Amino acid sequence: MDIRDVAEAADKREKERNQQLIYIDKCREIVKNKEQEKGRKLTSHVETFGCQMNARDSEKLRGILEEIGYENTESEDADLVLYNTCTVRENANLKVYGRLGKLSHYKKKNPDMVIGLCGCMMQEPQVVEKLQKSYRYVNLIFGTHNIFKLAELLYQVLTQNRMIVDIWNAADITVEELPVDRTYAFKSGVNIMYGCDNFCTYCIVPYVRGRERSREPADILEEIRHLAADGVKEVMLLGQNVNSYGKGLETRVSFAKLLSEVCRIDGIERVRFMTSHPKDLSDELIEVMAAEPKVCPHLHLPLQSGSSRLLKRMNRRYTKEDYLLLVEKIRKAMPDISLTTDIIVGFPGETEEDFAETLDVVEKVGFDSAFTFLYSKRTGTPAAAYEDQVDDATAKERFDRLLKLVQDKAKTACARFEGQTLPVLAEQINTQDSSLLTGRLANNITVHFPGDASLIGEIVNVHLDTCHGFYYLGTAVE
Ligand code: 5AD
Ligand code: SF4
Repeated sequence: MDIRDVAEAADKREKERNQQLIYIDKCREIVKNKEQEKGRKLTSHVETFGCQMNARDSEKLRGILEEIGYENTESEDADLVLYNTCTVRENANLKVYGRLGKLSHYKKKNPDMVIGLCGCMMQEPQVVEKLQKSYRYVNLIFGTHNIFKLAELLYQVLTQNRMIVDIWNAADITVEELPVDRTYAFKSGVNIMYGCDNFCTYCIVPYVRGRERSREPADILEEIRHLAADGVKEVMLLGQNVNSYGKGLETRVSFAKLLSEVCRIDGIERVRFMTSHPKDLSDELIEVMAAEPKVCPHLHLPLQSGSSRLLKRMNRRYTKEDYLLLVEKIRKAMPDISLTTDIIVGFPGETEEDFAETLDVVEKVGFDSAFTFLYSKRTGTPAAAYEDQVDDATAKERFDRLLKLVQDKAKTACARFEGQTLPVLAEQINTQDSSLLTGRLANNITVHFPGDASLIGEIVNVHLDTCHGFYYLGTAVE
């Protein structure tokens, strides 16, 4: 983009933002009238399925609804329910259909109820067709590219008696500066890029989230400065593949450079990021991570498979050896780093030998934790058409073996900090025992320790008394 295009895009964004603020006002009027009619506040519930990106999008959706005048509620028996969906694996889709059935009962009781669906699953044409045909009580459907338009779309729902569907195939424009309702006062996700260009052969994300687009560094830094001024101590920089950040910007900036600039912002004490693709992880990034005390010593580095043959078929563009060498390099620079990963079991063509390679990598690396997934066939991806699909029983049996190894290794890895005193960001009251607080170490391990609500949002030094598999019990020290 040249400088004129950048200015033009900023102008377009500003216009669109003002337009949405007008729709927020218009919706607020309608909601106020309904409140008077009903003699009570209207309530809304946004349910998030899937990843951190969706969680961040939901904060934006909730921010807009709150501004319109809805009271946020945990219950789905609300005046407006919005499902922010995920479609990365099929069971995520099935869950949504199941829950929609339940919502229809609430709607029978409250015919004014607005039911909306948005997010990744809505970018699949066959899903929208199904909803239009068999779920007529849904009022609003939109996708991943136009969540900033919620107020405008809701206005249409509230003033027209029909199902409103608005799906964009690409992001022409992204409006950021709208109200946001953060789940936590002291930490926040920050989108640094959208979409993915990697086209791993099993993955639907590039089709539903579109082409990779990086936000301008100045906009990102400005957003983080605002967050810091608002009391945020920890930010998580979000992108499907943060290591390729910067492509297509007028002045190219590497992810490592962006990361070190984020560390310069006063008030921000911890910086995390998600997700890293091993093929793009640069030496520069390792250097910055090792040198910047604010960057958390945690790297989520999806492996997917330990078999170089399968990795090729997955279009991952690294081999088992590349991955192991990368881990060695990272550990050399940061011996204490926590490594976590994603692994898929039962990818088409996976043989017992391929699977043994995956176990071998897990054995050698000793991840702090790993998300393990059964391969799920996603319509439209290349791997869905591969003929040598692995049968369910074989995949399940391998999955169980992998899970056992992952858990055994994680226990050992987690325990290596026992007896140390480390800073913990206190996040919430423990859900099971209200005399405890639950927080996280910089490396993302959970710690429970006695303390009261006044410490929430504070970084506290905690002695790690005992490791219990994936978490610690500890004691705060002065
Ligand atoms: N089947 C199973 N797991 C998948 N993932 C992505 N697509 C699929 C699929 N079709 C997993 C990958 C990715 C994580 C977010 O989800 O491991 O890293
Ligand atoms: Fe999917 Fe691969 Fe992109 Fe990750 S890098 S979102 S697995 S296509």
